[in-house]
Amino acid sequence: MRYREFYQQSLENPEAFWKAQAHELQWYHKPENILTNDGNDHPQWFIDGKLNLCYLCIDQHIEEGFGRQNAIIYDSPVTNTKEIITYNRLHKEVSKLAGALKDLGLEKGDTALIYMPMIPQAVYAMLACVRIGVIHSVVFGGFAPHELAIRIDDCTPKVIITASSGIEIDRIIPYKPYVDKAITMASHKPENVILFQRHLGAATPVKPYDIDYLEAVKNALPAEPIEVASNHPSYILYTSGTTGKPKGIVRDTGGYATALKFSMKYVYGVNAGDVFWAASDVGWVVGHSYIVYGPLLNRNTTVLFEGKPIRTPDASTFWRVISEYRVKVMFTAPTAIRAIKKEDPKGEMIRGYDLSCLKYQFLAGERCDVSTLKWTEENLKVPVIDHWWQTESGWPMLANMVGVELAKVKPGSATFPVCGYDIQIVNGSGDVLGPNSEGYVTVKLPLPPGNLRTIWRNPERFKAGYLERFPGYYFSGDGGFKDEDGYVYITGRVDDVINVAGHRLSTAEMEEIVASHPQVAECAVIGIQDDLKGQIPLALAVTKAGNEIAESVIQSEIIKEVRSQIGPVAGLKQVILVSRLPKTRSGKILRKLLRGIADNEDISIPSTIDDPKIIDEIAQVYKTHKIGSI
Ligand code: COA
Ligand code: AMP
Repeated sequence: MRYREFYQQSLENPEAFWKAQAHELQWYHKPENILTNDGNDHPQWFIDGKLNLCYLCIDQHIEEGFGRQNAIIYDSPVTNTKEIITYNRLHKEVSKLAGALKDLGLEKGDTALIYMPMIPQAVYAMLACVRIGVIHSVVFGGFAPHELAIRIDDCTPKVIITASSGIEIDRIIPYKPYVDKAITMASHKPENVILFQRHLGAATPVKPYDIDYLEAVKNALPAEPIEVASNHPSYILYTSGTTGKPKGIVRDTGGYATALKFSMKYVYGVNAGDVFWAASDVGWVVGHSYIVYGPLLNRNTTVLFEGKPIRTPDASTFWRVISEYRVKVMFTAPTAIRAIKKEDPKGEMIRGYDLSCLKYQFLAGERCDVSTLKWTEENLKVPVIDHWWQTESGWPMLANMVGVELAKVKPGSATFPVCGYDIQIVNGSGDVLGPNSEGYVTVKLPLPPGNLRTIWRNPERFKAGYLERFPGYYFSGDGGFKDEDGYVYITGRVDDVINVAGHRLSTAEMEEIVASHPQVAECAVIGIQDDLKGQIPLALAVTKAGNEIAESVIQSEIIKEVRSQIGPVAGLKQVILVSRLPKTRSGKILRKLLRGIADNEDISIPSTIDDPKIIDEIAQVYKTHKIGSI
């Protein structure tokens, strides 16, 4: 089948297209009601279908005789551990943990928060939840207790599942004390904390709500998967928006399972039994969809890697893993390749490994610069596929659908819309733009299966943020254009969300923290270009009149506070004190201008600017502090 024809089918008759894909899954009750409008302008998929995601990821494969196939390969250079988990073993671990959750009183519709490093127990915890209809919310380990507390209050979990510690290269991250601190800070108090003890030397204070993971599992009876409706939330995953408050993206079950299964075959080109590796973290959407649910649904072997592209122990780690486990398709972020390239510019370490197993290298999470794409192509000698998606979509929206037809790769473009996505570039008034005109990247409704259902306990924010800006379209928050051949290029966020080393962060959230420093009168946090991480945050602050505290003290206090409230992942390392900020005559800070000057872009001076002389002033400040490309 050719891509064009397949894609057209998905747009011309979405119900028939997705019904056929949904029927590839084993439902308890196959859906016949394919696309339903719930009266909120946001249709839902497969509303009368009943299924269980965990059953599809594990039990079904065992029933079909594949229990002895490897489900997970856990490779942890930071602890020197390698472990193979078959589907039979996964079944045992997950059903017992699900039983333990039931013993603690968890029922369908309850929520559980998972705050864990990249260990098999994190995957067991996710699957155990969906097995019994419990809605999980995984929080990335690089977030600090304050961020964890915000999420605890928003999703009100009955239990938190955690581990004693994680390891960042050679540094112990004490997860359990962070959880205890977050519970102290939060208004909602979970009933229990299930602690997986890793015995890595981290302090694990004992609290009355603690339950030992292994004890709980030992005493539990295995739980069977339960039937849930297709639109039952499988999980909530928080992501950064344009305000200080993260938003809980709600994923359904049936639409998600259908989309993931479809994508494994048609986007990633893998067959059941193949080894698939997404080098991300279970705390991000990539981890949910392509470390856990996608590959397991498709009966692949998934690699769970607890390490970094470099320094664990060196820049050859990725190649060692691909070669050792015969990975067929790999997925990482361009920033990881840039980190490797910096250490091994000629790709000499690659030559030491037999990578003949590798068929495609996928990249996503941030814009892929042309030199990174070229370097990867030249050194891996396989097609390198840039593809575009978001936490909200849960699976790719733009890709080179290699499982259908490998299109010519055009560097800088994430290729074509994936089946089901009617991608349109529109201007500020919502008019669809022609080739090579840059505008807002939108998807004409309906969104295909798998996309966000709503924002947890905040349907108004869902509508206002995604559906109301351009009626009839989903607004992605990204800018971009299509070329004359229909290739789509994503140029970056058009809002104040930034992307640091493939991690999506909100500058508004950082600004709130910077502004709360007692000596700061006003501030702006912007994302500026960085050779390694794509973007890094930069804070500019104006101090209050009469401030006598040394500049360096204020700077380090701000950096410390952002790290302590958001977490190390925020990556704010630079704060500059300035005498004033560029503003409009009505007093609005011109953040885009601040960013444009740092990135040395051709800036158009806004007609509303209060005082144009500030542009030279800011340029001078950047020069003094060696900021950006000035
Ligand atoms: N738990 C605790 N801390 C964490 C963490 C975790 N799970 N993940 C990251 N951190 C910390 C890091 O240790 C670092 O702390 P530091 O400032 O004290 O050094 C900080 O958060 C920033 O981390 P990161 O942005 O990852 O930078 P890095 O310098 O440690 O590593 C890269 C740089 C490029 C190697 C790394 O960012 C990387 O592998 N990126 C790929 C990202 C990715 O896969 N994203 C998923 C989208 S597909
Ligand atoms: P997240 O929700 O954390 O996955 O981040 C999604 C955002 O990352 C998107 O809105 C884009 O801004 C950016 N992004 C992801 N993949 C790509 C890509 N292939 N090219 C350009 N930007 C990307």
